[in-house]
Amino acid sequence: MTPAIQIAPSILSADFGRLAEELVSISEGGADLIHVDVMDGHFVPNLTIGPMIVEAAKRATKVPLDVHLMISNAEAFLRDYVEAGADMVSVHAEAVTHLHRAVQEIKSLGAKASVAINPATGIDGLDYVLDDLDMVLVMTVNPGFGGQSFIESCLPKIESLRERIDKRGLKVDIEVDGGIKVDNVQRVVAAGANVIVSGSGIFKTPNYADTIKNMRERAEAAR
Ligand code: DX5
Ligand code: ZN
Repeated sequence: MTPAIQIAPSILSADFGRLAEELVSISEGGADLIHVDVMDGHFVPNLTIGPMIVEAAKRATKVPLDVHLMISNAEAFLRDYVEAGADMVSVHAEAVTHLHRAVQEIKSLGAKASVAINPATGIDGLDYVLDDLDMVLVMTVNPGFGGQSFIESCLPKIESLRERIDKRGLKVDIEVDGGIKVDNVQRVVAAGANVIVSGSGIFKTPNYADTIKNMRERAEAAR
């Protein structure tokens, strides 16, 4: 069975001028994790958040920070982000040369370890690190921007990954990220995802708590 549902609002769609207030609203509104999108203008065509903002976010909320590194040479920055307050760190399989080493390092720094894969990346490359992972992040848009449309071909990939994890008796979460809203969350959960990232699907709605509640109800119903 799909593990417990966790809702992870992505602050990429928050109002950065009022970031602390936004973090409080989303935390009181029922977020299980706060998803933090780090982009370097190199691995993805956009620039966002450095460790200083992660540190500031950490001061504003007790909800665990789920840091998604969309950066080249992520190995060089793992310590900075964990020391800034990341509770879990995702590195992209496409951006890291020594994936096994990066995963071990995240864990030795005391954070949970996750590997992210782009829409065009298959799951076979995860086979020899799967036992060591807390989570796999399946991108359901091409990383770089909020507000893009969900890519349908990611659904069978989520199904295959859940099957593989279950067959091996592992406890690995599957996080989905990109284009997830109240009206399609059931589909990704039915496929086997359980950690739901949503940026515009939450922050562009008037009442965050209501949206998180609706999303959770629909997700639970699809488990
Ligand atoms: C995209 C980021 C996502 C983004 C999702 O590169 O990794 O986390 O914030 O935004 P929505 O939910 O609006 O597609
Ligand atoms: Zn993300």
